[in-house]
Parts: sequence; structure tokens; C-alpha cells
Amino acid sequence: MRLYLIGSPVRHSLSPAIYSAYFATAGIDAVYDTIEVPSTNELPGVIEWLRRNSAGFNVTIPHKKGVAGLVDELSDDASAIGAVNTVAVAGERLIGYNTDWLGFLRSLATAGRRRYGKALVIGAGGAASAAVYALARDRAVEELVIISRSGVTAAALAERAREWGVPEALGCRASTECLRRGAEGAELVVNASPVGMGDPGASPLPKEMIPGDCVVLDMVYRPLMTRLLREAMNKGCIAIDGLWMLAHQAAENIRIWFGLRADPASLREAAITAMGWGP
Ligand SMILES: NC(=O)c1ccc[n+]([C@@H]2O[C@H](COP(=O)([O-])OP(=O)(O)OC[C@H]3O[C@@H](n4cnc5c(N)ncnc54)[C@H](OP(=O)(O)O)[C@@H]3O)[C@@H](O)[C@H]2O)c1
Repeated sequence: MRLYLIGSPVRHSLSPAIYSAYFATAGIDAVYDTIEVPSTNELPGVIEWLRRNSAGFNVTIPHKKGVAGLVDELSDDASAIGAVNTVAVAGERLIGYNTDWLGFLRSLATAGRRRYGKALVIGAGGAASAAVYALARDRAVEELVIISRSGVTAAALAERAREWGVPEALGCRASTECLRRGAEGAELVVNASPVGMGDPGASPLPKEMIPGDCVVLDMVYRPLMTRLLREAMNKGCIAIDGLWMLAHQAAENIRIWFGLRADPASLREAAITAMGWGP
């Protein structure tokens, strides 16, 4: 059985380590590999090849939206979010799923609370859409402020949040004023932007704006302990790293592809070991 991750860049992805470790412990004869697909022009050809030569595949930046338009069937969640990160090949039919939103929700649950008055979401791309969809579906927030570089994508996602049932949602540009407006009184902060990825000195939210006693989930997992998480912990917040979301999302993919239950904590450990991040 062959499974793949397509996207660009995928060379340094943690997914092959996570799935290979799982296949070895579960005794599954399968191989998980990456395919670099830099341009959207190549996407239809790659998808047709995968239809015939794989049992399923994952999709990452920048093709999650593109693949949603190329599969034969979409799950309700993938259709609502407008992005696919997991595809199952059934016969020769391609079924597109979005498991990012569940990965987000299940990793957030490790904080031990379900309801938040106000939440700040930084980023308005595919990952942020999945998070906002999850928060709306779970009726987890009353008020949402979404921030993006341009502000345009944030405003559009805020409109979708209201359609999905969030009582109050506002989108704006990553200015000091808007960050302050979003962070003030927030009980949940989500970083769904790439800020901090590969840069332990970068944070999307200045330290002085991090609200005390909140929950902070950073989708970035390289480094595992980002500056945002470190500073949030110093303020007494609960910090959840992005590897939890990746592990929960992988567990859901394993359920879709194999009908098996995988332990997210073990999947996370496999990634930590593969990266040499362990003690
Ligand atoms: N842990 C996990 O399982 C998991 C899953 C999915 C994604 N991720 C991570 O989440 C991050 C986002 O992924 P994505 O697929 O959503 O990427 P994306 O589609 O490229 O979206 C990135 C978003 O971040 C915004 N942004 C960039 N710089 C910003 C800044 N300084 N302040 C505020 N917003 C800023 C962008 O604004 P504009 O819209 O204005 O350009 C855009 O909305 C990546 O680092 C990815 O690796 C993690």
C-alpha cells in the first residue's frame, strides 16, 4: 500500500516519520512518501497518477483548495471549509476530507475547557479557516477577532464565521491597533499564521499584548516551543504546541484510510523522536 503527501515544500515534513512509525508498530505493510508539487499546473496530472497508484494521500500548502476542486466527492466538512488535506482512494474514486479542523479541536481540548468568551485567531488562510470552522461548529466562542497580513482575507473569514454561527466576528489587518483590539480580554489565542515557523525569535503577538490566564494554541511546530508559547506560559497561560494538532489530524487520517484507532500521543512521540527533539 502506498500513501503520499503532496505540496511544496514537503521535503522536511514530519508526516513520513509519523506514519512510518505507526505502520511499523501496527504491523501495516504500507509506505508513506512525499511528492513535491511546486505548481498548480501540475496538480491535475499528479492527482490522476495518485488515483491509480495510491491508497490515499495528504495535501498541504499550497494545494488544499485546488485539490477540493479535483476530487470526485467531498465530505461535508471539506465542502464547508473549501479545503482538502486528506484524500481516500476508494476503487478509483477520490474522496476529499478535511481533518485539520478535527485535529485543531481535539488538540484544543487538551486545555480542559470547551467554552471561550472571546478568541483571537491570527492568520486567515486554510489552517485558520479550519480552526474557525471548528470553533463555530463546537459553539466554542461568542466573539472572534481574526487578523491577517492584508486584512482582506481576515474580513472574508470573519464573514464566513458569522455564517457558521459565531455571534460576533471581526476581521482586520495585522496592525498594532487591531492586534490590541483582538487580544484585549481574549481567553483563547490561536496562531494560524506561519510567523515563528523556523524562527524561535519571531512571534505574531507582542508579549505585552498576550492576555493573562488564557489558552494559546500555536499551529507552528518547528520549533516545538515557539516564542509565542514561551511568553504565554510566562503569563500563566496554557500553551498547546502545533504538534498536537498534527498528531490528532494524523490519527483521524489513519481512521479514514485503515478504519483503525491510533493514539495521538504515540504519533506525536514518533515525530519528536524522528526530529531528535526528545530528552
Ligand atoms: N499543526 C498543524 O497540524 C498545522 C496544520 C495546518 C497548518 N499548520 C501551519 O499553520 C500555518 C498556516 O498555514 P496555512 O495553510 O493556513 O497557510 P496560508 O494559507 O499561507 O495562510 C497564512 C495566513 O497567515 C497570514 N499571515 C502571514 N503573516 C502574518 C502576520 N505577520 N500577521 C498576521 N497574519 C499573517 C496570512 O495573511 P494574508 O491572508 O493577508 O496573506 C494568511 O492569512 C503554517 O505555518 C502551517 O505550517 C499547522
